[in-house]
Amino acid sequence: MRVGVPQEIKVQEHRVGLTPMAVREYVSHGHEVLVQSGAGAGIGADDAAYVAAGGRIVGTAAEVFAQADMIVKVKEPQPVEWKMLRKGQILFTYLHLAPDPQQAHGLLESGCIAVAYETVTDDRGGLPLLAPMSEVAGRLAIEAAAFSLRKPAGGKGLLLGGVPGVPPARVVVIGGGVVGTHAARMAVGLGSEVTILDRSLPRLRELDDMFDGRVRTRFSSVATVEEEIFAADVVVGAVLIPGASAPKVITRAMLKHMKPRSVLVDVAIDQGGCFETSHATTHDEPTYVVDGIIHYCVANMPGAVPNTSSHALNHATLPFGLALAGKGERALVDDVHLRHGLNIHRGRVTCEPVARALDLPSVSAESALGM
Ligand SMILES: NC(=O)c1ccc[n+]([C@@H]2O[C@H](COP(=O)([O-])OP(=O)(O)OC[C@H]3O[C@@H](n4cnc5c(N)ncnc54)[C@H](O)[C@@H]3O)[C@@H](O)[C@H]2O)c1
Repeated sequence: MRVGVPQEIKVQEHRVGLTPMAVREYVSHGHEVLVQSGAGAGIGADDAAYVAAGGRIVGTAAEVFAQADMIVKVKEPQPVEWKMLRKGQILFTYLHLAPDPQQAHGLLESGCIAVAYETVTDDRGGLPLLAPMSEVAGRLAIEAAAFSLRKPAGGKGLLLGGVPGVPPARVVVIGGGVVGTHAARMAVGLGSEVTILDRSLPRLRELDDMFDGRVRTRFSSVATVEEEIFAADVVVGAVLIPGASAPKVITRAMLKHMKPRSVLVDVAIDQGGCFETSHATTHDEPTYVVDGIIHYCVANMPGAVPNTSSHALNHATLPFGLALAGKGERALVDDVHLRHGLNIHRGRVTCEPVARALDLPSVSAESALGM
């Protein structure tokens, strides 16, 4: 198959759909890979690196879209890109269609076959193509908090790990899933005192085993959240109820009882945020203050580290992308987990939650694929 990698054009997006490592894998499986000149610039991969990996450089996105059978990207296609997609062409990328009716209509009109990273599943009920970005965001959350605690950044002037004779900062992580675990790991590594709260007892047991006594685990309730955050220097919000808006685990009233200039990092902001006082911020201006508490609420945290993020994302997408390139639509028939990623098929919505959110008719992926 001929696979195309256009340069990302969404504002402040520097990741790339295929790294040179992935291009080499596709080429070694017999595929031809067209890469738009400069597509890897944001991660320090120049055209020569793609050529060395076996890719072919083309000058414009229009050429990539016109010649490729499958387009591999990172972010959802922008309006100028929907118009370049054509009937039967496979699109493999993050889509997040539920809140984006315009994009959904653009993709429906194109007749393309759109497979969304965020709805591909695995055997354990997880979302394997979302997890790497949660890993990145969780680790970044502690870096962001450490920076925000510093005096020149407007913080209370505290070092996360303390020093001998001076106690470390107290870090509270609410939600012990992928984000929460990686945040806790970083915080422990820097010497902080860490507590993780979750509502899932099986998950708390796993965390207890995993950290071998180096973090405290607590069942998440209004009372325990209050008790923990009132003593915290840093709170990381990492809760997720799949398919729903994030529950508001910290109210504005609670802020008054927190220690002044403590830092709230709301990683769940992409699902609406789990603190009542959160609103989405950008990397240009990541923080703001409410009632003396510093809020960090960047909605696309992995975008700050496109190099790490692109490699992490490629490791996860590679087997699915190779299956699509190798078998075309047949890959969706053969693998139920990849099929869960099928959001739009030749002018029809094939993902029920997306159809419901957008009030559009849908067919099952199975019937669209003639199974
Ligand atoms: N801002 C960003 O750039 C960015 C990047 C990646 C992920 N995220 C978001 O981070 C959030 C967490 O993602 P994840 O991959 O860790 O999800 P996950 O499903 O792995 O973990 C969520 C955890 O929250 C727990 N939970 C649910 N309700 C809770 C409550 N009331 N109190 C305590 N725990 C509760 C669940 O039991 C689960 O363990 C999601 O909203 C995700 O979209 C944001």
